Amino acid sequence: MNFKITLLPGDGIGPEVVGEAVRVLETIASKYNHSFNFQERLMGGCSIDKYGSSLTDETLADCQASDSVLLGAVGGPKWDDPSAKDRPERGLLALRKGLGVFANLRPVKVHPALMEWSPLKPEKLQGVDILVVRELTGGLYFGQPKKREMREGGEYAVDTLEYYDYEVRRVMELAFNLARGRKKKVTSVDKANVLESSRLWRQIAIQIGGENPDIELEHTLVDTASMRLITGPAWMDVVVTENMFGDILTDEASVLAGSMGMLPSASLGESTIGLYEPIHGSAPDIAGKGIANPVGTILSTAMLLRHSFKLEEEAAAIESAVDGVITDGCRTADIGGKLTTRQMADEIVKNL
Ligand code: IPM
Ligand code: MG
Repeated sequence: MNFKITLLPGDGIGPEVVGEAVRVLETIASKYNHSFNFQERLMGGCSIDKYGSSLTDETLADCQASDSVLLGAVGGPKWDDPSAKDRPERGLLALRKGLGVFANLRPVKVHPALMEWSPLKPEKLQGVDILVVRELTGGLYFGQPKKREMREGGEYAVDTLEYYDYEVRRVMELAFNLARGRKKKVTSVDKANVLESSRLWRQIAIQIGGENPDIELEHTLVDTASMRLITGPAWMDVVVTENMFGDILTDEASVLAGSMGMLPSASLGESTIGLYEPIHGSAPDIAGKGIANPVGTILSTAMLLRHSFKLEEEAAAIESAVDGVITDGCRTADIGGKLTTRQMADEIVKNL
């Protein structure tokens, strides 16, 4: 089959890890007789430097016209000026909104061989297999008003946490559907004891729970959820939550896996176009050194093949190749080894 993939390597280590992920996809293409057409575009700080905008209309249109988008990472100290009118992160948010990808799937699994890299005791990590479904195009990130101004003789800033029922319903339904293929359990995370938007969130969770009696539903307040992630992660399965809560909880959950560099993500919407990216950032401190862990991006290509192209066998082949090299002791620096980004990817490609 023939597919068009837009690559947005972005900033920092983004180009290094995306480059290796492309080699993995090319290997899959030749083994399974597919043809992947790659088109590369700028997004993030690199796009500000070249075009004066973190995401141009043309780049967004190119992404919308492709079958899927693979992203590295955006941002860096160079573009961190708080008074700048554009920031690399704005491009990412505009891309998520422009692609309509309202659900961000962040699976967290712990490879037994990497347990020592997690700050948690191994007995806590046994059996951890969590899928966080983060709402991605609403809530605190996008709510209006969102601004700064002078008020009453002082500086004033506001962000707004708002949700429409349909925004909650669609991400909740997706979470329930995903739970059906797993342990049939959904943990809905909110702050319903304080926030009105969370009371709407919980009401809709209960409604959808009623429509899906085969799935067990529990509600957890976000503060409790952050504690449970550390004290009892093994009994969480699908976790569904508001945009900002999900941002925070997934960074926390990532330490369970030993390194952020290991974790992939998929952002999905109504159409089959998805946005796939590792959950780590642009890591400016190690950019250009060729030592970043490419696994999170490589596993993101597996999610791309599974969710956007329905190529389950190919996706599973990548996941098992990654599993194999970790079992064999291949390690980049973040997980205590000496392999370069390229060498790590070489091992994975060999294992395909
Ligand atoms: C993430 C990142 C982004 C977010 C930033 C870079 C805008 O932290 O994907 O988790 O907050 O969504
Ligand atoms: Mg984040």
